[in-house]
Amino acid sequence: MIIASAPAKVILVGEHFVVENEPAIAVAVDVRAFVTASKRRDNLITLKSLNLGISDSITKDKNAERKEFKPLEVIVRKLEEEVGSWIGLDVVIDSKIPIAAGMGSSAAVAVASTLAISRVLGLELSRKEISRIAYEAEKIVHGKPSGIDNTISTYGGAIIYRKSEGFVPLECDFSGYKLVLADSGIPRSTGEMVIKVRKLKNKYPKVMDPLYHAAGRLTIEAAKALRDRDFTRLGELMNINHGLLSAVGVSNEKLEQLVYAARRAGVLGAKITGAGGGGYIVALTDENNASKVAKVLESLSKRVLVLDVSDEGARVEQVGKNK
Ligand code: MEV
Repeated sequence: MIIASAPAKVILVGEHFVVENEPAIAVAVDVRAFVTASKRRDNLITLKSLNLGISDSITKDKNAERKEFKPLEVIVRKLEEEVGSWIGLDVVIDSKIPIAAGMGSSAAVAVASTLAISRVLGLELSRKEISRIAYEAEKIVHGKPSGIDNTISTYGGAIIYRKSEGFVPLECDFSGYKLVLADSGIPRSTGEMVIKVRKLKNKYPKVMDPLYHAAGRLTIEAAKALRDRDFTRLGELMNINHGLLSAVGVSNEKLEQLVYAARRAGVLGAKITGAGGGGYIVALTDENNASKVAKVLESLSKRVLVLDVSDEGARVEQVGKNK
């Protein structure tokens, strides 16, 4: 039996623009998805999500019935293929990451599943291989994702990511600062938001191209600010990034309300994080101000999280005896 986990992510700058090959910066945060994989004596593979309260099963010849398990099925079949023989398993997902929130819950589940299942099957995959397999599952969830979510969830810490080039880890020290996230309460699909933005870009290429270019420049500036621990500059760049996200059509009244409430509470910067259209906003704040910011946001949001950046990516939590 193996329990593995992988962290949620927060995109500090560059979401959506990253889909068109501009750079973006993501950090891992200390909320995780856990997956337990154990071997069975028969050939059945059972799949269970404690969060969704659903289960399903697959065999070599029978596919999962529930669409929610299709990404996990892709991972299972790839890993079983790698081993070369079909081994029965029980796989249980227990994620602490809010769903459809912009925090990369599907990627974290995919990464933790890949790690847990590969280890229980006796495979020693590199982080690169784990991220690649998780990306295959992400394609089922989001259509054509940039790959930033599975990458940050696999490696942890902070990264600057570009679709055509992969990622570079960023040395950064967040001590003294917190990320405060607030839920708009509006669920949405990342895939649909990406399509919406692409349509607008295709309709007004001459207008949109400079916005994409600006987002890319902004990300480079944000990487420098992180390196210099200049959180005031980073916050300002996050504010500018929020304006660009509004311009490409992924904001709404509720998200604006949360962003402006956070700014009034004295944060260094506040913006949509992830695909927008709903989900969460992220605010960067001095840790001394974090509880005040959280209180203000709690009056407008059902779920507010005060988070630290997590250095650790995917990891094995527990190795136990098989049932
Ligand atoms: C989703 O977390 C981030 C988006 O940029 C989509 C992607 O990168 O695939 C909106």
